[in-house]
Amino acid sequence: MLDTLLRHLPMVRLRAGAAIPAVLGVALATSACAGDITMPGGGGDSAELAAAKAAFTRDVQPIMDGYCLSCHAAQVNIDFLKNLPDMRSTMLAWEGLVNLEAPTTSSLLTKGAHSGPALTPDQSALILDWIDLEAAATGVEPAEAVETDRLTPTPGVNSIDLTALGLTGSTLTFLYEPLATGMYLSDITITGGPGGVHVVNPLFVIWSEGQPAPDPINRFGNIDLVVLEGATSYIGGGTAVFVDVVPGSDISVHFRVAEFADGTEPGGGDGGVVGGGCNNVPAFTSSARAALAQSCGNCHGAGGMTDAINATDMTKIADLTAEGQAAACAQVKTRINELDPINSGLLLAPDPASGTGHPFKFPSAGEFQAFRDQILAWVNQE
Ligand code: HEC
Ligand code: HEC
Repeated sequence: MLDTLLRHLPMVRLRAGAAIPAVLGVALATSACAGDITMPGGGGDSAELAAAKAAFTRDVQPIMDGYCLSCHAAQVNIDFLKNLPDMRSTMLAWEGLVNLEAPTTSSLLTKGAHSGPALTPDQSALILDWIDLEAAATGVEPAEAVETDRLTPTPGVNSIDLTALGLTGSTLTFLYEPLATGMYLSDITITGGPGGVHVVNPLFVIWSEGQPAPDPINRFGNIDLVVLEGATSYIGGGTAVFVDVVPGSDISVHFRVAEFADGTEPGGGDGGVVGGGCNNVPAFTSSARAALAQSCGNCHGAGGMTDAINATDMTKIADLTAEGQAAACAQVKTRINELDPINSGLLLAPDPASGTGHPFKFPSAGEFQAFRDQILAWVNQE
C-alpha cells in the first residue's frame, strides 16, 4: 500500500527512490519519460498501459464486481461499470469518475457512502494505485506538490512552520498523542501569517521508520481553505488517527496548493499553483450569499455553533469586503460537488427530502427549491 501512495506523490517518490522494491521498477522508471518503453510480447501496449490494465483486472475489477456492480452495471445514468466495450474503458470515459490529473479527486474515490457502500482504505489505495498507472500510461503528470519540513512530534502542541513553502509566519499546528500502534492528531489548524494562506488538499505524510507513508485515505483531499492573516481555522474536522505507524515518527505535510490568501504565489517558495478558491466571487455574493446568510448564518456564521462552523465555515458570510467574500466563497465551495452540484453536501444537508440528520431542514420543498436555485445560480457561474 505504501508503494501505491509513493507513486502518486512526485516528491516523495524522488526521495524514497532507493527504498522502492525492484518490482515497481517499470512504472517508476518510466514515469519520468512517459510512454516510450514497450514490454516484450505486450501485444502493442506500452509497459505502462499493460501495467495499468493488469492492475485493473487484478485489483480494481474484483472490488467493482463485489461491491458496486449490482447498481452501476445497468441503472440508467449511473452505469459506469457497463461492459461496453469493457468495464475499464467505460470507467475511464465517465466524466469525473477517474481524474488522471488529480487522481485523489476522482469521484470514484471521493463518493463515499451513498446508496452504495464507501470504499475501505485498502480498496481506495488499490484503486488509486490503478489510476496512477493509467495516468503514467497517458503521460499525464500529476500537479506538483509542495511539502513542509519534517517535524518530530512531541506529545502536546506541535507547530509546523510554513516558511518552507514561502508562507513566512503561517503555521500548521496540532496536538499530538501517541497511541499503542499509531498516532493521534487533534486540533489540526492553520494560522495565517502576513498575507494569509490558501491551501488545497493537505496530505499528511508519516515517516514511519524513516519511510514516507502518505495518509492512505488522503482524508483532507477535499479541503480548499483560505485563512486570513491573524485568523486560525480547522483543517476539515481537525482530527486524524494514523494507524500502523511507529508512534513519534516524523510528520511532514504536502499541499496540492499552498499560496497567499489572495491567490498570489509565495516569493520564497516553490509553490505550484493550480486553481482553488472561487473563480467568481461576485456571483457568489450576488446569487448565494443572501440565502446562506439568512438560512444558515445563525449556526454556521460568526458567533454560531462550533460544530456547525467546523462542518461548514460561513463565518465570513456577513463580511462584505472582497477578502471576506473570497474567504466565505472558498469555504462554502468545499461543500459543493462540482461534478454533480445537485448532490452537493450544501444542498443535501438542509433538503427535507434527503434523509440526512442535519439539524436544520427547510420546512417545505418549495422553500428548499428556492434556496437551491440561488445556490445553483452561483455554482453554474463558478
Ligand atoms: C445499492 C445501489 C448502489 C451500490 C451498491 C453502489 N452505488 Fe454508487 N450510486 C448509486 C446511486 C443510486 C447513485 C446516484 C445517486 C448518487 O449520486 O448518490 C450512485 C452514484 C455513484 C457515483 C456518482 C456517479 C456519477 O458520476 O453520477 C459514484 C462515483 C458511485 N456511485 C460510486 C460507487 C462505488 C465506488 C460503489 C461500490 C463501492 C457503488 N457506487 C455502489 C447506487 C449504488
Ligand atoms: C440550527 C443550526 C443549523 C442551521 C440553521 C444550519 N446548520 Fe448546517 N450544520 C449544523 C450543525 C450542528 C452541523 C454539524 C453536525 C451535523 O453535520 O449534523 C451542520 C453541518 C452542516 C454541513 C456538513 C454536513 C456534512 O455531512 O458534512 C453542511 C453542508 C451544512 N451544515 C449546511 C447547511 C446549510 C446549507 C444551511 C442553511 C440552509 C445550514 N447548514 C443551516 C447546524 C445548522
